[in-house]
Amino acid sequence: MSAPKDFNDRMLSLGLARVSEAAAHASAKLIGRGDEKAADQAAVNAMRDQLNMLDIQGTVVIGEGERDEAPMLFIGEEVGTGNGPEVDIALDPLEGTTLTAKDMPNALTVIAMAPRGTLLHAPDVYMDKLAIGPGYPRDVVSLEMSPAERVRALAKSRGITTEDITVCILERPRHEDMIAEVRSTGAAIRLITDGDVAGVIHVAEAEKTGIDMYMGSGGAPEGVLAAGALKCMGGQMWGRLMFRNDDERGRATKAGITDFDRIYSRDEMVTADVIFSATGVTNGSIVQGLRHEPDFIETETILMRSKTGSVRRMFYRNPTRRA
Ligand code: FBP
Repeated sequence: MSAPKDFNDRMLSLGLARVSEAAAHASAKLIGRGDEKAADQAAVNAMRDQLNMLDIQGTVVIGEGERDEAPMLFIGEEVGTGNGPEVDIALDPLEGTTLTAKDMPNALTVIAMAPRGTLLHAPDVYMDKLAIGPGYPRDVVSLEMSPAERVRALAKSRGITTEDITVCILERPRHEDMIAEVRSTGAAIRLITDGDVAGVIHVAEAEKTGIDMYMGSGGAPEGVLAAGALKCMGGQMWGRLMFRNDDERGRATKAGITDFDRIYSRDEMVTADVIFSATGVTNGSIVQGLRHEPDFIETETILMRSKTGSVRRMFYRNPTRRA
């Protein structure tokens, strides 16, 4: 038997950037066309093709859905050439299908890779999420605190007033009470209509984005991807799976989850070194969107490795016409 191959994250990272770039390129013609499904499908196809060129033995652990629901990039699908390290893959070929269809900000293509068995196999249920940027004492806020307590604790730890805190929340009827409670502290709220991977990433660059804390429920798969990003950029995050019915509990059991009330920290969702790549589809505060010029399309990608904490922003020009 050959020895297990190292997770060669340094070499693999550029390949991962190509994967998210390809997905973004594929969705280019579908921005603002009102067709979420077509945009998602184009991104899925391109992401899968690129992924299968990488020298990895990859297993999709966060993907497009269960095997019987998603024909491609389903949970458990084997990807890569089969030569190379055994890795877990978490992906969202188009994070913000509605944002893309409506040409609204912050749609991204997202992928993370880590050694086999080190990414939480989160089922497609909701997750209650809380995230703050780097530089705070450990556990200064928690999911057990009320929204107002979190705002107060964060402000106190920084020596500022609650009015100086900005919280990012998904605008959903289920968050109405949370929004009212945060407002009662005097804190500002950046409401987003979709895209909570970007929502969480905002806290890692608070000086640039103006967002100090992210809270609220969204997709659990997106939660694991966001935890991967924060592990690279710095920042704390917690997530607790939320179940609405037995079918969802069944999905969790199938994914190997036994404690339904557990709160996962960032490093419990992503337990080893991870690489993360996201490419902008529409313009956003993390990366710019696809830029069309007469002879080329340009994308911006953020590529990060947790081992080194390196964060690269890369522009890629793909000629559409060659002289
Ligand atoms: P899609 O790209 O799959 O449409 O997801 C967008 C998104 O906003 C995620 O970022 C978020 O986690 C989830 O949907 C929230 O779910 P819901 O729309 O049901 O509140």
